[in-house]
Amino acid sequence: MIIEPSNRVKKIKQYYFAGKMAQIAEMNKNGANVLNIGIGSPDLEPHFEVINTLIDSSRKQDNHGYQSYRGIEELRVSFSGWYKKHFGVEINPDDEIQILMGSKEGIMHIAMAFLNEGDKVLVPDPGYPTYTSASKLSGAEVLKYDLKEENSWLPDFDKMEKMDLSDVKIMWLNYPHMPTGANATLNLFEKLINFAKANNILLVNDNPYNFILNDNPLSILNISGAKDVALELVSLSKSYNMAGWRVGAVAGKNKYLKEILKFKSNMDSGMFKPLQEAGITALNLNGDWFENINKIYKERRKKVWEIMDFLDCDYSKDSTGMFVWGKTRMEDEEEFIERILQKSRVFITPGRIFGNNGKGYIRISLTNSVEKLDEALKRIMGTME
Ligand SMILES: Cc1ncc(COP(=O)(O)O)c(C=O)c1O
Repeated sequence: MIIEPSNRVKKIKQYYFAGKMAQIAEMNKNGANVLNIGIGSPDLEPHFEVINTLIDSSRKQDNHGYQSYRGIEELRVSFSGWYKKHFGVEINPDDEIQILMGSKEGIMHIAMAFLNEGDKVLVPDPGYPTYTSASKLSGAEVLKYDLKEENSWLPDFDKMEKMDLSDVKIMWLNYPHMPTGANATLNLFEKLINFAKANNILLVNDNPYNFILNDNPLSILNISGAKDVALELVSLSKSYNMAGWRVGAVAGKNKYLKEILKFKSNMDSGMFKPLQEAGITALNLNGDWFENINKIYKERRKKVWEIMDFLDCDYSKDSTGMFVWGKTRMEDEEEFIERILQKSRVFITPGRIFGNNGKGYIRISLTNSVEKLDEALKRIMGTME
């Protein structure tokens, strides 16, 4: 007997990395010892004070129960102070911030809270695959908007305005952009807010890479009137080396957040309090924190550039975020990546998993030590001609 999965689930595929990691685990079982320089999970530790807070808070007897659906007040206040300190943006901690278990779950919650069957969404191509799958799971139709290298990976408004936008409800946006490392400007955000207002679209800026190798961290909520049409997702995963902890937030107007809460409060029962308290410690770290991790990422990036050079890729030296995005000479970069994996036992992410405009590109992550990256380079040099 076969119990059929839902039509909803039939519309999507398993997340690319889930399948790829299983393949790599199988190779490792057979002794391959694959170096994974493709995935973006920070290998560096969180600040020791963050870990201490988690430990101390876990020892308190009354910290183990269900927690507020919105997140504890002290964490919301810390996010509000963080927004003010880093972006000059006012966020009311009482009703303009919703704590999330990472930005990824926020994408799903927003989709479920705002999209109906038949609605359309604008998704960046290339872009984080979750925008597409969350939108499809909530019944919406995905319209890709092109990001092209010749346009510095920024949206092309002339082209977007020619699209039929009548049923578009959400535009997913992600600056600093993953995988390309492109950054926005306030001017771009302003144009996007005007575009969203003119077309009655909810703009969601997914902003988890804000402080990694970024001289100009921005929030879309910096734009006056942005809260009328925009939400912003932020996360401690990348900027604080806390990817496995699952702490993030969505900021914006209460009229939107309360709809998200309706959905979310039926999905989970709040976040473990020690994680929230550790999040507070992270958000209150001083500027040295980013300086120190960026110093490490800069060193690693030089080694990644060497790998890119050996693979004959073109890449930008001033991209933001924790990846280097390179253009190969190949049409089918996936076959190239598979060859490197099989011959050199090094995994690099193929660009096409981020959309059609990612074809021919590859992504290497800065979340490995210089020594590991060097070993990856040596393996590649020794096995690929
Ligand atoms: C663009 C983008 N958004 C969101 C996420 C997920 O972030 P979080 O760990 O906060 O769920 C990632 C992780 O790779 C990402 O690249």
